[in-house]
Amino acid sequence: MTFILNQVNSIANSMLKELRDKNLQQDRARFRSNVEKLGSILAYEISKKLLYKREEVQTPLGKSVIQVLSDQPVLIPVLRAGLPFFQGFQYFFDKADSGFIGAYRKENGEDITINLEYLAAPDLTGKDLIMIDPMLATGKSFVKSIETLIKHGKPQHVHIASLVAAPEGIAYLKEKLTLPYSVYTCALDEKLNAQSYIVPGLGDAGDLCYGEKR
Ligand code: URA
Repeated sequence: MTFILNQVNSIANSMLKELRDKNLQQDRARFRSNVEKLGSILAYEISKKLLYKREEVQTPLGKSVIQVLSDQPVLIPVLRAGLPFFQGFQYFFDKADSGFIGAYRKENGEDITINLEYLAAPDLTGKDLIMIDPMLATGKSFVKSIETLIKHGKPQHVHIASLVAAPEGIAYLKEKLTLPYSVYTCALDEKLNAQSYIVPGLGDAGDLCYGEKR
C-alpha cells in the first residue's frame, strides 16, 4: 500500500510548497518546522491503520466510550535528516519507544552503497515499526536499515514514512522487502537524477535542516 498525502488537497500542500521553494528553504528554522509539521500529519494518517481498544472515561457529567491505541508503535528516524520529521511523529505518538539509526550514502561512480554507523533500538518483536526518513530516493537506506533492525525482533508491520518519494525507491522496496510494509509519503515525484537525487524533490534534506557537511 502506498499512501500519498497530496492526492487530496489540504493545508499540507502549503508546507510542501515552502519546503520545495529554493528561496524559502534557505530559512533553516522554517524548513525544519515544516518538516516537523508534515511528520505530525503523516503520524495522524498512520494512526488510522493501527489497532484500537475500547476504553471508558468518566466525564464530570457521565461516561464516554472511546477507542484508544492498543499499543504504541516504535519510531525509528534515520539520522540526520530524519530528526525534525521524527519530532513531528513524537508529538502524536508521545508514549512511543524510539530507536535511532545512522545511515549515509557512499557513491562509487554510478553505484550507491549505504553505510550504517549507529544503531540503538528497542525490541521490535510484534510491533508496528515506523521508519522515518524524509527522502525515499533509491530506497537503499530504508532497506538496509530495516534489514539490520529486524535483528532486534521481527515487527508485525513496517510503516515507511517520507516527505517526498521517487518511483525508483518504491520499486526497490517492493523488490527487496519481505516483511509486511506500507509507504506513506507527502508527495510522489517524477524520478531520480544521475546523482540519485529526487527530481523535482527539494534538494538535500539533511543540509537544508542542519547545514552542508564537509
Ligand atoms: N536525499 C536527499 O536529501 N535528497 C534527495 O533528493 C535524495 C536523497
